[in-house]
Amino acid sequence: MYRLYRLEIPYLPTPIEVALRMLELTKPLRGELLVDLGCGDGRILILASELYGCRCIGYEIDNNLICEAVREIRSRGIRNVKIFRRDLFKADISDVDILTLYLTPKALGVLSKRIVEEMKNGSRIVSHDYEVPVLKPLRVEYIDTHGIHIHKIYLYKLPDSLL
Ligand SMILES: C[S@@+](CC[C@H](N)C(=O)[O-])C[C@H]1O[C@@H](n2cnc3c(N)ncnc32)[C@H](O)[C@@H]1O
Repeated sequence: MYRLYRLEIPYLPTPIEVALRMLELTKPLRGELLVDLGCGDGRILILASELYGCRCIGYEIDNNLICEAVREIRSRGIRNVKIFRRDLFKADISDVDILTLYLTPKALGVLSKRIVEEMKNGSRIVSHDYEVPVLKPLRVEYIDTHGIHIHKIYLYKLPDSLL
């Protein structure tokens, strides 16, 4: 199971301008808990910590990316970001204020039931490029990164996004 998911979700970093807008849309407050499931090089966590003072947790299974993220976090002297080498499908999301996602449609399908059942009211979910099934987006935005790709951003909030 673990291996299957790992194979299915490739590493593709969210461009910084897209990550900045994803965060802006969720209106993060100082001290809120932000979780990035499959955090890659930790860029979203680093921005959320430095720009908004969020407490951040990332889940990642690729050792090289974890090392890269930890190196960057240490070199910037950031103290409120933690990265766990753990399967994102086993992450505790019950206490999360902001959930950031850049996964595949299939992975989002697996996660959506847990998002609905386990995340608390008031939490925001922001997904890059793919919709979270069974939720109704509050907002959809498009960002054209210099003609290379039109990135989509889907913003959800509970309970407003419940169908
Ligand atoms: C599309 S990348 C997104 C990276 C980052 N969130 C961003 O937006 O820049 C997806 C990430 O999920 C990680 N990943 C894939 N399967 C995973 C799993 N089962 N548990 C934790 N991380 C996983 C990949 O290694 C990859 O870094």
